[in-house]
Amino acid sequence: MDLWRIVESIAEEMRQASDRGAVASYIPELAKVDPAGFGIAIATADGRIVEGGDSGQGFSIQSISKVFALTLALGKVGDQLWKRVGREPSGNAFNSIVQLEQEHGIPRNPFINAGAIVVCDVNLAGHQPRESIGEMLRFLRYLSGDDGISVDEAVARSETETGFRNMALANYMRAFGNVRHPVDLVLGTYFHQCAIEMSCRQLALAGRFLMMGGRHPEAGRVISDRRARRINALMLTCGHYDASGDFAFRVGMPGKSGVGGGILAIVPGQASIAVWSPGLNASGNSQLGTAALERLAEETGWSVFSARGG
Ligand code: DON
Repeated sequence: MDLWRIVESIAEEMRQASDRGAVASYIPELAKVDPAGFGIAIATADGRIVEGGDSGQGFSIQSISKVFALTLALGKVGDQLWKRVGREPSGNAFNSIVQLEQEHGIPRNPFINAGAIVVCDVNLAGHQPRESIGEMLRFLRYLSGDDGISVDEAVARSETETGFRNMALANYMRAFGNVRHPVDLVLGTYFHQCAIEMSCRQLALAGRFLMMGGRHPEAGRVISDRRARRINALMLTCGHYDASGDFAFRVGMPGKSGVGGGILAIVPGQASIAVWSPGLNASGNSQLGTAALERLAEETGWSVFSARGG
């Protein structure tokens, strides 16, 4: 299989696409991003990195950060986490509040905003917000082998000024006792985590431990095989919110999207893939990013549901 040729042709198709979706505008700083961008990077299990388009261009990882925050939180409290966050798809939008009242302030899963806010609360225990963000940045730099990863402060500020729904979610869960630190500290951590800027290349490298059963190709074990499997399962079932079923149907890989237009997708044993294009579809997931992964799955046979396996 000539992966370079496939990636090149996908990048060319996406460069020419006319319907690119709409850039997220509810975070004012993200609304300024040029919708013309498209990048793709694939880190393979045999140690190659294959990339195309704007694969070195940094973008706001937003909700993709929730995968790494979850990994850290499980490292701290293990399965205790599941007393405070569920593991079921919500069938609702990423920022929905509707289930929280009936379900006593326990969010459905760690990838909807409410769940990620609880995960942040867990990661904050014993730390100042700046230390917690520092821990996340060190983790991402270690995983990707790249020290050039940092927070885009303008994006963090922009969301701090406009994140009223997240404030509502956090306050609501604090009333149930499921957020334990002051809400402004938890949200400060959450907004900065979402505002981390990475390129497709950095993100594909950072995701390698999830394709390799919890092992980092150079540094060794990051998490157990079982935990990697479980995180992948959550990405498959909850990573695209109420469009997770459609993503599984079209792409068939555990994936996590972000409103910055990025998607991290994992093919266990084969590849860690990052795509980025800032225009979103109606469900808030990257329009061309999803299309690119769909084509990649078709051409490579990469899918957790496929017998072809690449
Ligand atoms: O909390 C928010 O609304 C954003 N910081 C992250 C949302 C997000 O990326 C949803 N993903 N598609």
